[in-house]
Amino acid sequence: MDKIPIAVLASERGSNFQAILDAIDRGECAAEVKVLITDNPEAKAIDRAKSKNIPVEIIDKKAVPDREQFDLEIKKKLDEYGVQLVVLAGYMRIIKSKELLDAYKYKIINIHPSLLPAFKGSTHAQHDAFKQGCKMSGLTIHFVTDDIDGGPILYQEAVEISDCKTGDEVADTIIKIEHEAYPQVVDSFARGKYEIQGRRVIYVAD
Ligand code: GRF
Repeated sequence: MDKIPIAVLASERGSNFQAILDAIDRGECAAEVKVLITDNPEAKAIDRAKSKNIPVEIIDKKAVPDREQFDLEIKKKLDEYGVQLVVLAGYMRIIKSKELLDAYKYKIINIHPSLLPAFKGSTHAQHDAFKQGCKMSGLTIHFVTDDIDGGPILYQEAVEISDCKTGDEVADTIIKIEHEAYPQVVDSFARGKYEIQGRRVIYVAD
């Protein structure tokens, strides 16, 4: 089957990006990464892209301080590379441009390390769950809308964290499951249809 052209947006380590690349190599994810876009010239994700000869587009926030303009630069790149799905993988900026969100409506997905709406909007949801004394946390993959971490949910998985001794341990426990789940959702997106009915996302296989 044809592989869906995707863009990955990552700001830092990029381990989810790597998990997607590895799943593609194993033939388990029907996607082709057309471009890595980052706002951070130091992101480790850049090396991961380069080692696979994937084009890298660095849009430096210092060079483009205006938020709308910054997002429009991203949109320009997405259009240029003809992507059909935009995968946020540790992308640490909020997409604010309505023009970008409208143009890629239900084509931008994000992964959040909690069972949303728990710890919605937090950049350290795993540590929040630990401090809160949660026995279970998890991960959520959702469409990106103007409601931060509030878009329709494609996938959730609960992860037991009752044995974790630190917030970092919670993060290490959850990310292992993220690495399994994210490529699978990208693969499902490539192979079928996610229909939105109100707040619910219904998956229809092709
Ligand atoms: C992950 O925990 C993800 O859920 C969150 O940011 C982290 C990114 O990690 N959105 P990595 O850059 O993919 O290693």
